[in-house]
Amino acid sequence: MTGPNSKKLYDRAISSLVGGVNSPVRADPQPTPAFVDHGEGGHIVDADGSKYLDYIMGYGPLLLGHDLPELVREAIDEAVAAGPMYGAPTELEIELAEFIASHVKSVETLRFVNSGTEATSAAVRLARGHTGREKIVVMQGGYHGGHESFLVKGTPERSRPSSAGVPQAFAEQTLPVPFNDEQAVRSVFERHGDDIAAVLTEPLLGNHGIVTPVEGYHETLRDLCDESGALLILDEVITGFRVGGLQCAQGKYGIMPDLTTFAKIVGGGFPVGAIGGQAEIMQGFRPAGEVFESGTFNGHPVTMAAGLETLRYAEENDVYGHVNELGEHLRSGLQDIVEDHAPAYTVAGTDSMFKLLFTRNGPPETTGHCQSGCEQRSDCPRFRTCPKTGAAVAAGETDRWKRVFWPAMAEHGVLLTPNQFESQFLSYAHTEADVEGTLDAYQDILSS
Ligand SMILES: Cc1ncc(COP(=O)(O)O)c(C=O)c1O
Repeated sequence: MTGPNSKKLYDRAISSLVGGVNSPVRADPQPTPAFVDHGEGGHIVDADGSKYLDYIMGYGPLLLGHDLPELVREAIDEAVAAGPMYGAPTELEIELAEFIASHVKSVETLRFVNSGTEATSAAVRLARGHTGREKIVVMQGGYHGGHESFLVKGTPERSRPSSAGVPQAFAEQTLPVPFNDEQAVRSVFERHGDDIAAVLTEPLLGNHGIVTPVEGYHETLRDLCDESGALLILDEVITGFRVGGLQCAQGKYGIMPDLTTFAKIVGGGFPVGAIGGQAEIMQGFRPAGEVFESGTFNGHPVTMAAGLETLRYAEENDVYGHVNELGEHLRSGLQDIVEDHAPAYTVAGTDSMFKLLFTRNGPPETTGHCQSGCEQRSDCPRFRTCPKTGAAVAAGETDRWKRVFWPAMAEHGVLLTPNQFESQFLSYAHTEADVEGTLDAYQDILSS
């Protein structure tokens, strides 16, 4: 899909940017990625003028698509014209905090930072400060950003750095368990319960799947945390204000975490992160408490304005109705296509998230399946074979997905996230016609 202008830009970029990009995933597809010229609603246009239906949507932040509604744009322009930032508090920060706290049940007070990574790092520091303990439990295949405590792989008995440059001493404080495996997490608490500061988990695996929770899994985590005195940190960086609408995934799944991390949509397309939770725990942060957290750009007025107006727009318009309906349509259409052409594959996702997982083993029955994305229903004929962990997703036909399927979709004008693992997103700018066109592309490719 890469045209001559993108190739020239990449050639130029590798002289001044490491690997030619500022985030590794943007180097895909190999050998040279397409450079974006601009966005148009649900589409992007690349440096060669080719237009693609975009389901990457900035990896999640663009709930409203590439064209911001007039009101959102005006609020951003106003904040830019007024400053654009001061290193002193503004009313916008209070308004966005009040908006989030009034919609997300577990959140009383917040601290705004600048990325999801900053949010998860600070939340874990706060949990360690609150409990006086050091270990954290994370999910294998979960993603919480590029911090030493999360760049860890392996098992609770043999955890090790997943990146060069991360000391083993960090890895030893991180206990990775398989998502959806109650027994595994119970065993970890039996062994390390007195040392565990927090369980950090996404409500669903959004960076290694999508894998939704089996019934009762989050309740088990909640119970284990309560029994041992650990905190439950829910990482809603992807799902916040996308899954479950304004109440977020914790509302949809009935989870009551101690702390929640947000980012992406909360900044309306600008860099943001946030930690929210019960005031009693949150006041551990300085200046109220003793846990250090600080940032020049924290609560940046332009970001606050963009996030606030985006969320207000979602509240006042049928944004979630629209994106979730498109999601249902897309996932149920995919389910029909795979039943005919690739019955082993699993349609995954919920609300406005979707992915077709190229799983290898499926049951022969094609009746009684979840109709619009795997819900981990125990009475579904696929229940025993649909992926429940990150490892189960990784065991799929990942090379076929990346080398054969992804380029074929791009040739059909549909831009998916360039690996088998990361979620794809619908936006308010996508239309029924876009979804129909996307289903035609899947049908063409999977039936050939
Ligand atoms: C669940 C989750 N947590 C944390 C992060 C890190 O966020 P950021 O890239 O803003 O640092 C991500 C990024 O995609 C994420 O998906």
